[in-house]
Amino acid sequence: MCGITGYIGTNDAKEILLKGLEKLEYRGYDSAGIALENQEGTHIFKEKGRIADLRAVVDGKVAARAGIGHTRWATHGEPSKSNAHPHQSASGRFTLVHNGVIENESELRAEYLQHVKFNSDTDTEVIVQLVEKFAKDMETEEAFTKTLRLLKGSYAIAMLDTESPETIFVAKNKSPLLVGVGEDFHVVASDAMAMIQITDRFIELMDQEIVIVKKDRADIYNLQGEVIIREPYRAELDATDIEKGTYPHFMLKEIDEQPLVMRKIIQAYQNADGDLEIDSDIKQAMSAADRIYIVACGTSYHAGLVGKQLIEKLAAIPVEVHLASEFGYNMPLLSEKPLFIFISQSGETADSRAVLVKVKEMGHRALTITNVPGSTLSRESDYTMLLHAGPEIAVASTKAYTAQIAVLAILASVTGAAKGITADLDLVKELGIAANAMETLCDAKEEFEQIAAEYLPAAINCFFIGRSIDHFVGLEGALKLKEISYIQAEGFAGGELKHGTIALIEEQTPVIALATQAGVNGSIRANVKEVAARGASTCIISMQGLETEGDRFVLPAVHELLTPLVSVIPLQLIAYYAALHRGCDVDKPRNLAKSVTVE
Ligand code: F6R
Repeated sequence: MCGITGYIGTNDAKEILLKGLEKLEYRGYDSAGIALENQEGTHIFKEKGRIADLRAVVDGKVAARAGIGHTRWATHGEPSKSNAHPHQSASGRFTLVHNGVIENESELRAEYLQHVKFNSDTDTEVIVQLVEKFAKDMETEEAFTKTLRLLKGSYAIAMLDTESPETIFVAKNKSPLLVGVGEDFHVVASDAMAMIQITDRFIELMDQEIVIVKKDRADIYNLQGEVIIREPYRAELDATDIEKGTYPHFMLKEIDEQPLVMRKIIQAYQNADGDLEIDSDIKQAMSAADRIYIVACGTSYHAGLVGKQLIEKLAAIPVEVHLASEFGYNMPLLSEKPLFIFISQSGETADSRAVLVKVKEMGHRALTITNVPGSTLSRESDYTMLLHAGPEIAVASTKAYTAQIAVLAILASVTGAAKGITADLDLVKELGIAANAMETLCDAKEEFEQIAAEYLPAAINCFFIGRSIDHFVGLEGALKLKEISYIQAEGFAGGELKHGTIALIEEQTPVIALATQAGVNGSIRANVKEVAARGASTCIISMQGLETEGDRFVLPAVHELLTPLVSVIPLQLIAYYAALHRGCDVDKPRNLAKSVTVE
């Protein structure tokens, strides 16, 4: 949610900032800007729209060895050129980019900035105007610190001062930000992938820290002015992981990566004997819990719904699954020994983090399942399990979903074994079978392109139905379709349709049904007949062994508990092709951002 880049060194900053922003575009893409600092002062370029639009307006002749950049997902103020970052103080001395939300901006405006004329509707402008106000009587560093002490909310900030052209002033609270270290330069980035082309050494920043970044040094302080010493770590990111290669879209590449991710997960969680193993502290925390509370958003929440089935069946621990954005207001009565599991691809989702902070304050233990080592949720939880899915760049999540389910299956199965529960499931073998089945499905893309072409070209809505675990996969299928193709789509429990929703079924309404569960095979097919009788255009995707004549696609057989790993792939691909045929921007759907770092 908003991406920040910064560079100070000996090379031309312009191209480094723009390339970095291109890599961060997944964080927000409704407007973008850069500020370049040279002997003549600060040069600002900004544009509504994508980084490509910004590129077109950047004056190629301006050369600078320092600068900051920003790609925006609007929170305060509409997406427009005037609301695009960087923002400048009234005199033009300070220029700043910001990711986050300043909750007390109105109070700050009223108390300190009544006479300042604002040029935007953003909360960010308050920060830069405050620095300018305070810098009249003190050094920039002091004015910056004084400003930060007044801010309530979240921020990742990079700021330029025309009077200190050899410095970038950086700060972080609750929004991610890293400082990268090079031979004769330093960089600033919301995510290491923005700068991995030029350095793999990054310094992690903690909340309420300030960094004074120069070409050849980066000094970290806390808001009390104490010096912090922290060594850089090496980011284990392969530059090719963040390129599309020959794929037209990251989403398609990431769908295709799913079998490989399965195999990586099996390897990562296998011990020397080839058995699945997890950290003994996690095993202990799971075994000690009398109830598990899974908290997540969006696709990760859908993986959590599948996770509940896995944990209850394999580890015999009761599980509740909650939407992070609702949990704060509707906190359930907690059990005596709860364990919280946060599922988050990015590890940065603000709604989930708010719950984590709350439950930690209450003294409870938390495990985060994430794709990003060192992410905020990972750092602030007691335990972490990694997804090993590699960077997920397309806004619509695909490989993280299946990775989350596989990791939850491992967690459930290893906990079950530790509790002495004998399950009729050789998980290493079954995950391997699922990986092969996923590969078969990825090779059958034309089938799903054909389904999309047949059912969805003129559709204004679409229903996904299923029972039991298929219902949860249907929810994910509907989310994929609506977020990238903008077709109104809903996932329903097959048996629930007749309690209201069936009123929406008309002639040719597409209904995609999943039939992967033996116990409900008859009843989901009865639901399909009910909608077909009312004119729906039905498409049944069934599991080998459960198929009947007329099914549109039969999935290769996998263990009944692991069917989501395969049944979701047709739904991902149908959504992909539906969006493609409608000319939608598959990787960057409207109004969305990959990493939702505001509540
Ligand atoms: C949908 C999607 C979102 C995310 C949600 C949570 O394709 O990607 O629904 O799943 O915003 O994000 P994470 O998993 O990063 O917490």
